[in-house]
Amino acid sequence: MDYFEITGNKPLRGTVPISGAKNAALPVIAATLLSDQPVELAHLPNVVDIRTLLTLLERLGATVTHRETEARIDPGPITSTKAVYEIVAQMRASILVLGPLLTRFGECEVSLPGGCAIGQRPIDLHLKALEAMGAQIEIKMGYVRAVAPRGGLQGARIVFDKITVGGTENALMAAAMAHGETRIINAAREPEIVQLCEMLVQGGVAIDGIGTGTLTVHGTGGRTLHWEEPVTIIPDRIEAGTYLCAGAITHSTITLERVVIEHIQAMIDKLEAMGCRFEIQANRITIVPPERLLPVNIVTTEYPGFPTDMQAQFMAVATLIEGESLIEERLFENRFMHVSELKRLGADISLKGNVAAIKGVEALYGAEVMATDLRASSALVLAALAARGTTRIRRIYHLDRGYDDLEGKLSALGAEVIRKR
Ligand code: EPZ
Repeated sequence: MDYFEITGNKPLRGTVPISGAKNAALPVIAATLLSDQPVELAHLPNVVDIRTLLTLLERLGATVTHRETEARIDPGPITSTKAVYEIVAQMRASILVLGPLLTRFGECEVSLPGGCAIGQRPIDLHLKALEAMGAQIEIKMGYVRAVAPRGGLQGARIVFDKITVGGTENALMAAAMAHGETRIINAAREPEIVQLCEMLVQGGVAIDGIGTGTLTVHGTGGRTLHWEEPVTIIPDRIEAGTYLCAGAITHSTITLERVVIEHIQAMIDKLEAMGCRFEIQANRITIVPPERLLPVNIVTTEYPGFPTDMQAQFMAVATLIEGESLIEERLFENRFMHVSELKRLGADISLKGNVAAIKGVEALYGAEVMATDLRASSALVLAALAARGTTRIRRIYHLDRGYDDLEGKLSALGAEVIRKR
């Protein structure tokens, strides 16, 4: 199994290009199921999760041509509406095919995703939304089996008890081809949701309230969607935030290109509070960290608040800041798997419920550590970049799921990161 060997305590310098957003690309790929004609996708990140979802579409019968950052998906020849365990077990986001398959074909079966390292992650809200639109849903032998009423899904009023990104995406895609109007209340507002809405609009669906917590979708009543122009994936705000943290933790001035500043504002705000300066020009940003960073308090919330997907990376940075930083995780109950691994590098972190108190230490020291989930793994990479000596990070398949060419991009900045097996 591949692992990273990182020799830390080296300054970084240069410019890093930001890839397309994994979490935007996944629903976009799922949404192509709403068409019966080829759809072209551009600026995809070259990561395993994207390949997994494309494989799932192929298993349903779609024709897929994929080359690094571009794909052409022809959902015309689809013959199956069953998303099998073998693939869903590899990636929870496979649940995103539920809404589009159901609304387009009137029935589908999707393997129930299990829990994962960051928490239980139920899908009850996805199912409730589809039931509100008239779907009959049963869970049998590990599968969600959903059947639309005769004539197709019906527009409905959907009120989410809790803001859910995936639930909002499934509801949006199901509503796109439903009959009549669907109002989604307490919808997620993440940039990835905005991208999906804009794609649906480009495909022929009218949607009001894009970017707000109330989305009104005027369903096509069974008519499939069509995309004449390629759909271009937005830049990955979490990848961008991770490289900003790489600059902060190594006290290095680095520039990111191809970012949407608005999408990373919550991270910029925290890094500014920690003493970093920024130079911003259109879609480029340069971080200029101070000699001594200041401790920080963070609470993870939904967009536009501070993202849970950046919690681990900021914790890595905080381990080397003199004083005490506090990080409260509000979205996922178990998203602290990186704490014990950061401690192996010498970090001083104590956990009380969902709050981590991080007392800055003078130095971290290289050690053997294990990646546990995608963002926890990137926190270990950051810590290793600043640690004295060499760190070996095992199970980096977690990183390969969501970071495009991490070692190539870090090496180009001057880091010593070697993939070994
Ligand atoms: C998306 O997951 C992202 N994944 C996650 O990124 C991200 O951490 C998360 O949103 C929050 O921003 C993708 O976009 C593919 P949720 P999702 O539904 O949609 C609860 C990464 O590292 N909930 O917004 O699964 C849930 O347990 C990944 O790239 C229910 O209770 O997250 C959580 O507490 C990890 N019932 C909260 O809502 C449901 O039916 C928010 O989860 C659905 C969710």
